[in-house]
Amino acid sequence: MQVAVKRDKPEVVAADVLAVFLRQEKSLAAKSVVAQLDARLEGRIRDYLESGDFSGALNSTALVRTGGKIGAPRVLLVGLGKSDAFTVDVVRQASATAATAARRLGISSLALLPPACDLAPVEVGQALTEGALLGLYTLKRYKTATENDDKDNLREIALLASGNAQRALENGIQRGQIIAAAVNMARDLSNSPGNEVNPSYLAKQAQEVAARTALRCHVLDAAGMREHGMGCLLGVAQGSAQPPAFIILEHAPQGTQEPPMVLVGKGITFDSGGISIKPAAHMEDMKMDMSGGAAVLGTMQALAQLRYPRRVVGLVPASENLPNGNAVKPGDILRAMSGKTVEVINTDAEGRLILADALAYAVQEFKPAGIIDLATLTGAVVVALGSQATGMMGTDKAMMERLRAAGDASAERVWELPLFEEYSKQIKSDFADIKNVSNTREAGSIIGGAFLKEFVGATPWVHLDIAGTAWTHENRAYIPKGATGVGIRLLITALEAMVEQPAQPAAKATRPRAAARPKTRAAARSS
Ligand code: BES
Ligand code: ZN
Ligand code: ZN
Repeated sequence: MQVAVKRDKPEVVAADVLAVFLRQEKSLAAKSVVAQLDARLEGRIRDYLESGDFSGALNSTALVRTGGKIGAPRVLLVGLGKSDAFTVDVVRQASATAATAARRLGISSLALLPPACDLAPVEVGQALTEGALLGLYTLKRYKTATENDDKDNLREIALLASGNAQRALENGIQRGQIIAAAVNMARDLSNSPGNEVNPSYLAKQAQEVAARTALRCHVLDAAGMREHGMGCLLGVAQGSAQPPAFIILEHAPQGTQEPPMVLVGKGITFDSGGISIKPAAHMEDMKMDMSGGAAVLGTMQALAQLRYPRRVVGLVPASENLPNGNAVKPGDILRAMSGKTVEVINTDAEGRLILADALAYAVQEFKPAGIIDLATLTGAVVVALGSQATGMMGTDKAMMERLRAAGDASAERVWELPLFEEYSKQIKSDFADIKNVSNTREAGSIIGGAFLKEFVGATPWVHLDIAGTAWTHENRAYIPKGATGVGIRLLITALEAMVEQPAQPAAKATRPRAAARPKTRAAARSS
């Protein structure tokens, strides 16, 4: 999909549909761009507002034929809702509503008139672009096309620029394209079936991300894991025929060697529960149990393309969780890379096992400034918070406050759960240092967090349990049913807030740079 700025006035723009955004309680302000457009349309827009045929409620729409009075044959009115509830996410949603409505109409070109508001033009451009590209997301790869399919002809989205907003809008479009591409890549990975997206596939994907950016990629195979003493990851992986992979992506602008922020994502490409097998109902959804890993791959790609100025490392321990004759059993004891021994009480609590080794690897190999992990870790967080907020726990108040603020700003909200010392008593084991679940079902998400905390030492660390937010069962404005791609916009927002200067996109950031640039050492080694 092509998104670009056009300097045309709305009344002359050549597009199949011109979308105009309107607030719920406002009549057309005299002399506003929309009022001028309406004058050309002999009051047709005002007619819709005054008759109540169009309410202006958020994501409401009305299609108005223009009868040759302006360049575009149709104007699509899109509601922004009430003024006091206006945020950048409203723009994102309304843009998705316009884009998906245009797709349903079968038209090929859509022009968006950016809403008049207090947001900076770069923010408006980014939100309009993200909304449209995220809202139009589909995964068609596994469906055979038939003649009865609705035709998707939409090829071009133009943002109409007036005055001197063009450069800022273009910047916003570029940022929006980078971020939406990362989120949609993560959605593809989570929505795709486990027989395609296995650990080797994730590793290959990471190498492709590195090849089209300046990231370094290195992948540990089972032998490499053994060398590092990753007994927990190997323990989870031993029950399946597919080999595990431990993915390392590094963004080191100008070879910076500062202590990095390390992002860790759970990469279970299918979670059957293992020997502690899950019930059959909805087990198919467990192909999404690598959504944390997908978010880390997407975030790393976007950070590289946005030329993020600080060093960031992404780690994805990847494995299946299946119950073959060699599988780890309840009562088995595994030794983590940190040296701690873990009694496996429930093989379905496998995420914390593979993360244990990834967290220890992060601490030992990188001496990080901070660690943020993302994992579809517990069903309990779905019970606690549903799909509206990610569960957050951690050891660093300042990092958690940044993530909370970034969650509000990105509309990928997080909510803190406590990690009081007392919870840790519940994972003491009679036979090993710790066990992977507690004796009761109480505070299930917190127990998961308390387990992970055993492996971060003094490193500032935040755990994000995305089990409830990584998947949606209903279509939302810019999140179609299925994998949401949650975490990427949250992390980018939080990481950019950590540097004074927000990252600027590279001049040609979306073009693959592999050919133009010599490969970095690690990328060359691993490909
Ligand atoms: N992958 C699941 C958690 C999950 C549940 C993700 C629902 C997405 C949606 C995880 O590995 C798991 O099975 N956790 C167990 C932990 C329990 C055994 C302590 C759970 O939540 O039941
Ligand atoms: Zn599980
Ligand atoms: Zn799992």
